[in-house]
Amino acid sequence: MSCFATCRDVAGAGMLDSRMSIALRPSTDDDVPAMLEIYSYHIHHGIGDFEPEPMHLDEIKRRRKVMLKRRMPHIVAECNGVVVGYAFAAQFRKRPAYRYTIEHSIYVHKDCLRLGIGRRLLPALIRECSDAGFHQMIAVVDSTNLPSLALHELFGFQRSGLLRSVGFKFGHWTDSVLMQLCLGSEDGLPRACVSDESATRNG
Ligand SMILES: CC(C)(COP(=O)(O)OP(=O)(O)OC[C@H]1O[C@@H](n2cnc3c(N)ncnc32)[C@H](O)[C@@H]1OP(=O)(O)O)[C@@H](O)C(=O)NCCC(=O)NCCS
Repeated sequence: MSCFATCRDVAGAGMLDSRMSIALRPSTDDDVPAMLEIYSYHIHHGIGDFEPEPMHLDEIKRRRKVMLKRRMPHIVAECNGVVVGYAFAAQFRKRPAYRYTIEHSIYVHKDCLRLGIGRRLLPALIRECSDAGFHQMIAVVDSTNLPSLALHELFGFQRSGLLRSVGFKFGHWTDSVLMQLCLGSEDGLPRACVSDESATRNG
């Protein structure tokens, strides 16, 4: 039986919490085909993304490498050894002033939606981004993407803006909601700057 069938069976039997074992870990290059499968489905059917289709393996590999080079978290969720979801942080804007802010994404396999995988992935990504010293997390969510809006609100993200008609997909304009989570105190200095300053003071 495939992992996806197992997830559904367990969920159907109401035993999700006790029996479905979800493990989270950093992604590897070997996970890229599974990530591509998950992502491609959502590009075709979803409201989460605006990628030119189809997406290629090498492009996902390239993007992952760039994120890792910048020390940005990139994690997968596994169910019985099969990748059922993933989440990662990417550069928010290119200018150096924005280097403590990330824009993240999260995707769960179409056959495993609403089984609690996003609920495991998102807080893990938040923790990793915080540990890595990032200050703000931003999600850009399609205004009709109720699952994503609800998931982000569940973990403390606040709606900080609405961009009207910024996307064009499936023949119509779409609005995007900006969702934001501050990982430290709003007015605290970035950790790197704090240590730079104390090094200067003490030096
Ligand atoms: C958004 C997404 C990651 C959520 O992952 P998931 O594993 O299905 O979510 P979970 O089962 O962990 O649900 C956690 C919470 O999210 C919200 N949620 C998830 N699916 C929902 C749905 N269909 N309708 C309303 N709320 C939903 C609920 O608050 C839920 O908590 P609850 O089950 O106690 O009510 C998933 O729907 C997905 O991959 N969507 C396609 C890609 C995408 O849009 N990514 C986000 C781009 S910004």
